[in-house]
Amino acid sequence: MGSENEVGIDVTALRKQSGAITYDPGYGNTGSCESAITFIDGEKGILRYRGYPIEELAERCHFTEVCYLLINGELPTQQQYDAFHNELTYHSLIHEDMKKFFEGYAITAHPMAILSSMVSALSSYYPHAESDEDVDLNVIRLLAKATTIAAFSYKKSIGQPFVYPANNLSYTENFIHMMFAVPSEPYEVPEVIADALNLVLVLHADHEQNCSTSTVRMVGSGGANLFASISAGISALWGPLHGGANQEVIEMLQRIRDDGGNYKKYVDLAKDRSSNFRLMGFGHRVYKNFDPRARLLKASADRVLDQLGVDDPLLDIAKNLEAVALEDEYFLERNLYPNVDFYSGILYRAMGIPTDMFTVMFALGRLPGWIAHWREIRDDPKGRIHRPRQIYTGPTERPYVPLAER
Ligand code: ACO
Repeated sequence: MGSENEVGIDVTALRKQSGAITYDPGYGNTGSCESAITFIDGEKGILRYRGYPIEELAERCHFTEVCYLLINGELPTQQQYDAFHNELTYHSLIHEDMKKFFEGYAITAHPMAILSSMVSALSSYYPHAESDEDVDLNVIRLLAKATTIAAFSYKKSIGQPFVYPANNLSYTENFIHMMFAVPSEPYEVPEVIADALNLVLVLHADHEQNCSTSTVRMVGSGGANLFASISAGISALWGPLHGGANQEVIEMLQRIRDDGGNYKKYVDLAKDRSSNFRLMGFGHRVYKNFDPRARLLKASADRVLDQLGVDDPLLDIAKNLEAVALEDEYFLERNLYPNVDFYSGILYRAMGIPTDMFTVMFALGRLPGWIAHWREIRDDPKGRIHRPRQIYTGPTERPYVPLAER
């Protein structure tokens, strides 16, 4: 029984006693671990990090405070926060040799490919992390350098010189500065964009078990180091049914626009089983009523678009799609509501973030959650390597036939 009265049936002795295993493709009914990090009640639309409601954190916290909370279990004191912030600032440069890596990537390289491989490569620069102090330092390095790597990957894709981190800026401001500033020209980070970025990062910071987080735990369970485990999580996030959906949302809206804006046709297509088409940004495995993050993001997207005076035809299509789907029997029956990726794509677009950086933004936000889960599994005294079973459906035993006789 969990602290929120969630009930789990312990089947650890099942195979020994009965010879059978549980079968649950997609793990919809399988609890893979105990975790004290994040609580979700999908029916009620509740999301809490370490007990704190997402609505309060989103309104009042800086992302780095949420990082500290998720990774260390408690909100920082002012002194702890200052020290944490200071360390993040002073570890934000990447080793100059690592800059050369960027020369090897194709100009068309997807920034998620760059991020996952560069994060994995960090373990070749900071390999020794056995003590808790070493791990703490690598956690700081990862959080601090990830934004620099992400911004450099964008600069590489547009052929601009890299902009180095500035120590007088906050974590979020620094990222925007590295993305949009040009060397030798003055640049001031717009407050509305820094605030919006802070919100999306806070809302993405953790989401208990899911494709990428469980990947991090899976890889970490074998004892793989922090950078290798998080790199695996970044790769898992990339898929269009997971974090890659935010890019897919905008591409879907563009496709609808280019096809004359007939959004109803696409709603019908999504309902047609033979079409394979889904409304990207709709549906969620856990939230069956509403996604609290989507609600907060929708409000922020409206505000940011308003303040920046953005008039985006894709937004009109998005609003129409949302309105139609929210009243359609097919979507209602299946509890398919807009999820976090539906509105985050629109918000990123308004902030001037290019479409193929959207999933990178998600990854930057999810870093503290992945790190917290990696640490939880590392420090778990009952921890075992993750090794699921399977139901084999292949051929039964048959003799080898030599090549010449086939
Ligand atoms: N458009 C149309 N129909 C859908 C959609 C959608 N976006 N999502 C689910 N359905 C339908 C399915 O066809 C299925 O219908 P059926 O019962 O008639 O067969 C039913 O709803 C249940 O769908 P599942 O795929 O079984 O739901 P599951 O929990 O496995 O998948 C998922 C959840 C992957 C999020 C799915 O809703 C989806 O593909 N959504 C679009 C991609 C997306 O937005 N992903 C981001 C998720 S949030 C995140 O990862 C951060």
